[in-house]
Amino acid sequence: MARTLGGSANPRTPIIGGNWKMHTDLATACQLASEVRNRTGALRSVEVVVFPPFPLLHPVAERLRESRVAVGAQDLHPAPKGAFTSAVSASMLTSVGAQWVLVGHSERRQVFGDNDAAVAEKLRVALNAGLRPVLCIGETLQEREAGRTFEVLARQLDTALQQLTAPALASLVLADEPVWAIGTGKVATPAQAQEAHAYIRQHVAGSHGQAFASAVRIQYGGSVKGDNAAGLLQQPDIDGALVGGASLDAEDFAAICRARAGG
Ligand code: PGA
Repeated sequence: MARTLGGSANPRTPIIGGNWKMHTDLATACQLASEVRNRTGALRSVEVVVFPPFPLLHPVAERLRESRVAVGAQDLHPAPKGAFTSAVSASMLTSVGAQWVLVGHSERRQVFGDNDAAVAEKLRVALNAGLRPVLCIGETLQEREAGRTFEVLARQLDTALQQLTAPALASLVLADEPVWAIGTGKVATPAQAQEAHAYIRQHVAGSHGQAFASAVRIQYGGSVKGDNAAGLLQQPDIDGALVGGASLDAEDFAAICRARAGG
């Protein structure tokens, strides 16, 4: 399906991420990584990234070495080092083979208290370290029902991106993850997701220019499964998916990768 923005063909390569959250252990993470590699390795027109828990980054990166599946971390601490018990720095992540990092996931925001300012700092540090960030944004059910979805998305985007120029953000991927859709089985309809993504693209065109907006990839996240991915990924402004639960099942995850736009 030809995807257009402002009349030009869509040059964006779909990107599917598997956020393993606090699941797997050494044995099951290595097994899952191998299965993802085997099932998605032949897919040429989609980028695939898995996000294992911190202690499993290195063994998973080793398993995926010289494969087409990249590895990312689920968070980082903005300080380079120091007395921050339990925290993990950007250079630790790159040293164990992480190429990507999630920033601002709603579970970080809601469970661990990452606010917009903390997310902005993590984003800046990740970019400086050469990590490719996936900036997660999204409204809660209460915010959606109050008609505040666009306002929330705009605030989260503006706080995170305002200090950064378009060239500095060249590796950025955005993930629109309505909080009410995460882990609930209540996936956004393709029309709901497309509406939010179109808004996000238009908003960043205003802040960072049309060229940036046309190029930046926007993933949808929230209860994506093999059997609902195609409808979402066909939307003109949906450039991939960030997958939680279904990414723990290699075949379901591979089905989502195969369902990418352009099929
Ligand atoms: P889910 O999680 O697919 O389990 O809803 C998505 C996410 O949190 O990134």
